[in-house]
Amino acid sequence: MGVWWIVVVAVLTHTASATVREYDWEVEYKFWQPDCIEGAVMTVNGQFPGPTIQAVAGDTIVVHLTNKLTTEGLVIHWHGIRQLGSPWADGAAGVTQCAINPGETFTYKFTVEKPGTHFYHGHYGMQRSAGLYGSLIVDVAKGQRERLRYDGEFNLLLSDWWHEPIPSQELGLSSKPMRWIGEAQSILINGRGQFNCSLAAQFSNTSLPMCTFKEGDQCAPQKLNVEPNKTYRIRLASTTALASLNLAVQGHKLVVVEADGNYVTPFTTDDIDIYSGESYSVLLTTDQDPSQNYYISVGVRGRKPNTTQALTILNYVTAPASKLPSSPPPVTPRWDDFERSKNFSKKIFSAMGSPSPPKKYRKRLILLNTQNLIDGYTKWAINNVSLVTPATPYLGSVKYNLKLGFNRKSPPRSYRMDYDIMNPPPFPNTTTGNGIYVFPFNVTVDVIIQNANVLKGVVSEIHPWHLHGHDFWVLGYGDGKFKPGIDEKTYNLKNPPLRNTAILYPYGWTALRFVTDNPGVWFFHCHIEPHLHMGMGVVFAEGLNRIGKIPDEALGCGLTKQFLMNRNRN
Ligand code: C2O
Ligand code: CU
Repeated sequence: MGVWWIVVVAVLTHTASATVREYDWEVEYKFWQPDCIEGAVMTVNGQFPGPTIQAVAGDTIVVHLTNKLTTEGLVIHWHGIRQLGSPWADGAAGVTQCAINPGETFTYKFTVEKPGTHFYHGHYGMQRSAGLYGSLIVDVAKGQRERLRYDGEFNLLLSDWWHEPIPSQELGLSSKPMRWIGEAQSILINGRGQFNCSLAAQFSNTSLPMCTFKEGDQCAPQKLNVEPNKTYRIRLASTTALASLNLAVQGHKLVVVEADGNYVTPFTTDDIDIYSGESYSVLLTTDQDPSQNYYISVGVRGRKPNTTQALTILNYVTAPASKLPSSPPPVTPRWDDFERSKNFSKKIFSAMGSPSPPKKYRKRLILLNTQNLIDGYTKWAINNVSLVTPATPYLGSVKYNLKLGFNRKSPPRSYRMDYDIMNPPPFPNTTTGNGIYVFPFNVTVDVIIQNANVLKGVVSEIHPWHLHGHDFWVLGYGDGKFKPGIDEKTYNLKNPPLRNTAILYPYGWTALRFVTDNPGVWFFHCHIEPHLHMGMGVVFAEGLNRIGKIPDEALGCGLTKQFLMNRNRN
């Protein structure tokens, strides 16, 4: 009796202190100079990146999003937020809602249940590549104690930027033959980068000239001003379209403490790999010579780089802000040292006291990732299906049982085990599809993602896979083909990290586990924007008879539009 009373009081005080944070946002293109070269950038309220949402755990976020683009639909996805009880607010076009039409306003409303470093981004076409993104930071609830100790914090949102306009990129990817977008022109730190110049030109043996920023330029890097002998929390998130990144701070160690909104067992590193869709917090102690400044470098790994390292400066307030560091910036580790990359991933364990995974799974998918050709068009396929989302969002089709909304036959739950992942596909042809994987409520699901060779040559690419609506446990990574009945023995069931994004390494597999405790329809896809655009995703649905009310405004397209009109007339 007494215990229950305490629980009730705790719940009541919690709700009483929770805040509703309400925002009016307008999205439109603006001319901008992210890397000192002008281009069209998607802005939120005239800002790029969009405004940072700063909340505390338990808060309700309300965003009235107005589409001021003249010819494109719009949605925003809240990456890392589970959307418990609000699956319609997940912001995945074609999956959880219809794109918002030009001139219209749509209201997102959801709660942020736990502290963490997250971000938001466009999730329609390639609008994330167009610059539609910003940070979403959730702190511990008022009156709760943050378990990390630090004196100040910084927020670095990392992205990549192309000079080719997005419509042209999209056209190239869906052309026959496909025209690849190539490597980014610049890496951006908080939306600011350097094209064809370097902040370290005085050292480099390249021919890059020194950058000449003026105070107030849109491309001028933000310096991080720190005091000596303090500890700072640096929040990192990557919303790159393509690039896998590595960040280092000259002369300083980083202690990794958070990954994708979950505390991890702290470990010290000289540099950190960060892939698209991931977020981290690292602690940095300012224990170096306080009369100097230091480079913060962000370079490309995982693909042969053709993009200059992004740089900014850690400025000790005891040194003049204009003083350049006295030695060259950290060198980004070799791009193709995949052993190093895997070793980094394998250092990440959940923090003590984190929930551990159920010991057994009830359902399992083994998802083969291949690059294919359909009538000469290059696609990515999962178990031989390249995803094309339907005109009617899945969430509406399942909620109102609209049989024609999508193909009700489940896509394959595995692939032919005689498939040779080490070579190009012998039959590169494949099909498009829009079927989904449906799971019962509250069961444990394992997903094994399996990499393979691409269409041509001896190449297998990195794919950061991101799941909406859930955190999953990353149970393990392996080389070659996953061997059912054998490789499960290598799983870490003791302290696997809880994440929402996991890396699939070349020619390897990655094993994930989650519990279907969140009624809704959830996207699971490669976070590389052009890969998703070319079909690299699947859709999970769970607890379908427990999906609550969906605002009609989310479903004003496709078959749901007609359905709602008829229903509301009667
Ligand atoms: Cu950040 Cu579906 O993605
Ligand atoms: Cu990919």
